[in-house]
Amino acid sequence: MARKLIGIKELLPGMYIDEIKCGMRERMRIGETKDFMISSKNEIALIAKQGIQHVYIDPEKGLDVYEGSEEDELAQVESEAFREPRSLEEELRDAKVILDKASNTLKDAINEIRSGGKITMDPVKLLLEEIYNSVNENKDAIVTVCRKKKKDGYMLEHSVSHCALMMAIGQTMGVAKDELLDLGLGGLFHDIGKIRIPEGILKKPGKLTPEELDVIKKHPLWGGEIMIASGNFPEKAISIAMEHHERYDGTGYPYQLAGNDISLVGQMASIADVYDASISIRPYGTAGDPCLVIKNLFQEAGKLFHMDMVQQFIKTIGIYPVGTLARLESDKLGIVIKQNKNLTQPVVRVVYDLKNNSYMPPKDIDLSHAGGRGDKVVEAESPEKWKIYPGRFMFSE
Ligand SMILES: [Fe+2]
Ligand SMILES: [Fe+2]
Repeated sequence: MARKLIGIKELLPGMYIDEIKCGMRERMRIGETKDFMISSKNEIALIAKQGIQHVYIDPEKGLDVYEGSEEDELAQVESEAFREPRSLEEELRDAKVILDKASNTLKDAINEIRSGGKITMDPVKLLLEEIYNSVNENKDAIVTVCRKKKKDGYMLEHSVSHCALMMAIGQTMGVAKDELLDLGLGGLFHDIGKIRIPEGILKKPGKLTPEELDVIKKHPLWGGEIMIASGNFPEKAISIAMEHHERYDGTGYPYQLAGNDISLVGQMASIADVYDASISIRPYGTAGDPCLVIKNLFQEAGKLFHMDMVQQFIKTIGIYPVGTLARLESDKLGIVIKQNKNLTQPVVRVVYDLKNNSYMPPKDIDLSHAGGRGDKVVEAESPEKWKIYPGRFMFSE
């Protein structure tokens, strides 16, 4: 079947774009440089934003245009309009499926490296596409799910989280899809060098000796070596592994690189790494409050981390990141469950009424919508102080 020219209004997720008539600059903004499958409504909005009116689709590789009667079409539009928005629980459940799949794929890749082989890239590439779609649809869901780490799965889950965070920052910066996938790949394998650290050191509960610390500090270098030996990692992914512990002021490791001697992707990787490690909820031990972690990152901007990159990160994660316990102007406490474009108006799950000092039935309020009745976040509160632990209201066991 020949390709079809259709109007932008007819374009749907699942259709395969064969050609867009536009310049290279617009293509870079869309994030696609070749033919591709439309994976979300956001992607369609991005294309429309470039002023593009028509696109060629390939109905053999994706969905065709709807050719039912006008009545059917109206019914379909109406049913879409009345479709319930997906709940946080549904989005978290889907993100959890991806996290589990990702942990297994990574485990297989680690086994391949351990047995001296080359990493098989096909399953990894498929997984990166899925994480890319998930970040595109709702980056908050995958980042939230990745917060809660299993006792024995920390390295795997931290790696998946790092992968999603790298793609999300890249997306904020307007990076093209091919490059986002490279960022994700680097994120996924950034700590792969740890497989050469003896278990006794890696899992030592007490304080490490200076000699043991020196061994730990070799993992970025070992990671780079493993990736180069595998022969199928792009340069950006290798830089992510080798530079994610370097610091802007030259106090990092293994090379004590400083300033712009650290690659852009290395700068991104260091922020994503510190953020995920700080907010992780582990079976034993406390997790940092995401809002405080963001504040600390901001204080370190220009010192440990590149100033612009910290700003891009905050634009991605929000000033009240998902999982923050927020006090609203209406004297209620709620948990931030989703970001909006305006970082001060997230979606909040309200759970506590400060006027009556009592819990209330949880209710999700989008502060950017009229339903939020002009309410806004006043400040982040300490979960410890109120004994209100956000995880309890976000994850169902
Ligand atoms: Fe690391
Ligand atoms: Fe890490």
